[in-house]
Amino acid sequence: MPVRPLALRPGRAVSVCHVVRTAQRPLSTASNDKLAVDPAIRQRAQWITMKTHNTIPIPSHYNDLNGSLSEAWRLLTRGAADRKSPIHTPAVATVGLDGRPRVRTVVLRHTDPPSRTLRFHTDVRAAKIAEIAANPDVQVLAYDAVGKVQLRLLGRAVAHQRDDIADAAWSRSQHQSQQCYRQSASPGTGTAEPSAALVPSDNDGRANFVAVVVHVDELEWLYLAHSGHRRARFIWSGNTMTATWLAP
Ligand SMILES: Cc1cc2nc3c(=O)[nH]c(=O)nc-3n(C[C@H](O)[C@H](O)[C@H](O)COP(=O)(O)O)c2cc1C
Repeated sequence: MPVRPLALRPGRAVSVCHVVRTAQRPLSTASNDKLAVDPAIRQRAQWITMKTHNTIPIPSHYNDLNGSLSEAWRLLTRGAADRKSPIHTPAVATVGLDGRPRVRTVVLRHTDPPSRTLRFHTDVRAAKIAEIAANPDVQVLAYDAVGKVQLRLLGRAVAHQRDDIADAAWSRSQHQSQQCYRQSASPGTGTAEPSAALVPSDNDGRANFVAVVVHVDELEWLYLAHSGHRRARFIWSGNTMTATWLAP
């Protein structure tokens, strides 16, 4: 079978076999080799090996609705904690004030499976805050390309600006993140030149900081597999959950 080159870095093409061989070497003997010590590349190489040999294991949740749901929340929880997770930066869609869709990337800051909530942070002056005030319905979309899982969640967003939730989120934010909220011009306003809005205001930015909590009432799971995709939908009404397999 011909081996397709795999571009890892601009200007560097490496064959799949090289990546696989490198990833299989013991870490101690390859400490100078970035390919061998980077867990993301190692995981990808292992996945390529399994795909090449058609030995991708069927996960235990494959035909299990509850197992698929648990895996979805596990991925969302890890996504909030691990900045290298593909779930760390989901897309959040709102309904624009003109009724047309708006979607943007955010950083997933916290996931709480028991309360079925997700949290991200934003600026109170951002367009999405006015949109959420007018219509709190949001959709969150995330895709894990290695795990082959797409998550689509529907929920209602609540913006916390001056309460304990916002205070706690602000105090746990890194100084560098807090600086974003000091920008004097509102996000999305036109500026005469590109860096004009970066002039920081005198305040510490706290007044502009909002923690947005999404209360999930529907979660759609899609798992891609050669042996047949699996798609499922989970809907909560109060504490009652309805789970259904869907045609992919
Ligand atoms: C990787 C990445 C992460 C981002 N994280 C956030 C975030 O956590 N909060 C946020 O308000 N905007 C974030 N943004 C910027 C938004 O995608 C968007 O451009 C901005 O919030 C304006 O959106 P709005 O005008 O619809 O409110 C991020 C963008 C990227 C590319």
